[in-house]
Amino acid sequence: MSMEKQVQEIAANCNSLPERYIRKPHEEYGHVANNDAMSSPTTAADIPVIDFNLLISSSSELERLKSAITTWGCFQAINHGIESSFLEKVREMHKLFFSLPAEEKNKWSREENDTEGYGNDTVLSDQQIVDWTDRLYLTVFPQNLKRLRFWPQNPTQFREVVDEYSSKIVSINEVVLKALARSINLDENCFLDQYGTSGKIQARFCYYPPCQWPEKVLGLKPHADGSAVTVLLQDKEVEGLEILKDGQWFGVPIIPDALTINIGDQIEVMSNGIFKSPVHRVSVNSKRERMTVAMFCIPQTEKDIGPVEGLITDETPRLYKNVTFSLEFFFEYAQIGKRFIEACKI
Ligand code: OGA
Ligand code: NI
Repeated sequence: MSMEKQVQEIAANCNSLPERYIRKPHEEYGHVANNDAMSSPTTAADIPVIDFNLLISSSSELERLKSAITTWGCFQAINHGIESSFLEKVREMHKLFFSLPAEEKNKWSREENDTEGYGNDTVLSDQQIVDWTDRLYLTVFPQNLKRLRFWPQNPTQFREVVDEYSSKIVSINEVVLKALARSINLDENCFLDQYGTSGKIQARFCYYPPCQWPEKVLGLKPHADGSAVTVLLQDKEVEGLEILKDGQWFGVPIIPDALTINIGDQIEVMSNGIFKSPVHRVSVNSKRERMTVAMFCIPQTEKDIGPVEGLITDETPRLYKNVTFSLEFFFEYAQIGKRFIEACKI
């Protein structure tokens, strides 16, 4: 069991900020942004809202989806088929868990050299700046990969609600992958085929405590996701997610009952760079905690993935090698502020 203090406890008794959480902006971006990105203020992102009901029938909605993912790498989904009362239920489980006393939460602690379970940012090197967040990280799909010893039984409905939510995310991922393919005139199964039938879903229940010195820390350092598709249930009231576009940070607004969906590096590779896996980060609030649930849909790892054949032409040559994403490898890059996608480029 981890004896380290979680950020939640540090934040509750905080007179000064532990050194390892303090940002070093010049080291933050690796080669992903210019220096101006640091100083310019965050403005609200004009991220397209996509109506899932229209994706089947409306070519203009598909066009908007394409435009969203080629520019922002991200969109806000409405009419996605998950009832708002159920989203409330997911939020309630999350909140009840993080409100438990430390001893109770620690029953589900991550062990050393593992990623799953309850804990804080994984520290891979002494130099690494640690994120101002605690999390519960679980493989939630398929059923046989679930490691129940990390699944809270308090609150009592936690497991049941998370199972139901995960099964709904399976369908959302399929809808997104098919629509993305159709939006660039490809066979609708071409991304799904590469995704495979043994893809998995990992859930990250993020808890960002308030911090008296919000400008000195980051909830999550800049990164892109290693998934194919990430579905984020945002906090209902507290913003914090920011996306890097054209060297500037933009804040992602909260839209009630919408799911914020971004693509990850694996779709950037499969689409030969047409779709952008966005670099994003999380800032923290000085007074209020923030809670989000990220669901990472991750393709099969038995086979490598690569750009779809039909997208490689004389004018648009292949930009990425065929690659097998290993999560361990991905994290090693992410934790030192480097992008895994760079290692995929030809
Ligand atoms: C992530 C992520 C955003 C958020 O977990 O990869 O980007 O707002 N989360 O919590
Ligand atoms: Ni992310």
